[in-house]
Amino acid sequence: RYAYVNGSYIHHEEASVHIEDRGFQFGDSIYEVVYLHKGRLIDQDPHLDRMERSLGEIGMEMPMSRAAMKLIIQEMVRKNRLKTGLVYIQVTRGSSTRDFPFPKTYRPTVVMTARRMPVFDPKKALKAIKVKSVEDIRWGRCDIKTTQLLAAAFSKQIALDDGFDDAWMVDQEGFVTEGTSNNAWIVTKEGKLKTRKADHDILNGITRQCIIRLAKNKGMEISEEAFTIEEALNAKEAFVTSASACLKPVTQINDQTVGNGEVGLISSEIAQLYADFLE
Ligand code: PDD
Repeated sequence: RYAYVNGSYIHHEEASVHIEDRGFQFGDSIYEVVYLHKGRLIDQDPHLDRMERSLGEIGMEMPMSRAAMKLIIQEMVRKNRLKTGLVYIQVTRGSSTRDFPFPKTYRPTVVMTARRMPVFDPKKALKAIKVKSVEDIRWGRCDIKTTQLLAAAFSKQIALDDGFDDAWMVDQEGFVTEGTSNNAWIVTKEGKLKTRKADHDILNGITRQCIIRLAKNKGMEISEEAFTIEEALNAKEAFVTSASACLKPVTQINDQTVGNGEVGLISSEIAQLYADFLE
């Protein structure tokens, strides 16, 4: 396995960055995860657009041209002989003496890794998950894809320790923000799709945006609106979306099933729509 670190492709086990790197010291760093499906990078440009936005929001620029970035991603896919999997890209504010303010000049650290994953195929049974609701204890700019992920890791661990597969984080008003690394959706009793609007409290998922488009094209009704855990428990179906999961049905929240506890028809239909888009 190869990793990319600041201009070099090196063996994954030997890849490292400096201990004073601000990504390591402060989580002063942003990232992207792109799904590679049968040799094709899914929504590469929207991911790079979001990377540029994340960087902009923390006062940084893209560390290289988009063409150069795409070449390196392509090379990572080739060197790792990856057909289906994930490409991880991280850009930090580089290393400098540990001090809180952003350094006036810096040389960004750019890191990439790649890893294999099974092909998303909803024709095989979709893997349903159970989620636990937890308080959303993250900061106020969850729209920026930073590597400051302790709150998400902490929440996921609490869920796993309790026998769940993931956590759904809930804001101060009782509305679900998102999963620890995915966007949350419900299908209401009326058959309407609901997912929180892309405010500062969630990451505007590329998969989320794609599925909104696909579902609208199919004439499905979507409202980008927050929902509570109670609403989700009264919903017909629930699911999550992300580059790594694509779509996973949620059949249980806390100690109650969603709908009849089975993978729902609409979730399956949307999973199939997304799978068709991937082909
Ligand atoms: N997750 N919300 C959060 C907090 C996330 O970390 C992610 C991505 C998403 C979904 O975004 P997208 O559809 O663009 O992947 C929502 C990581 C990168 C993943 O599991 O893929």
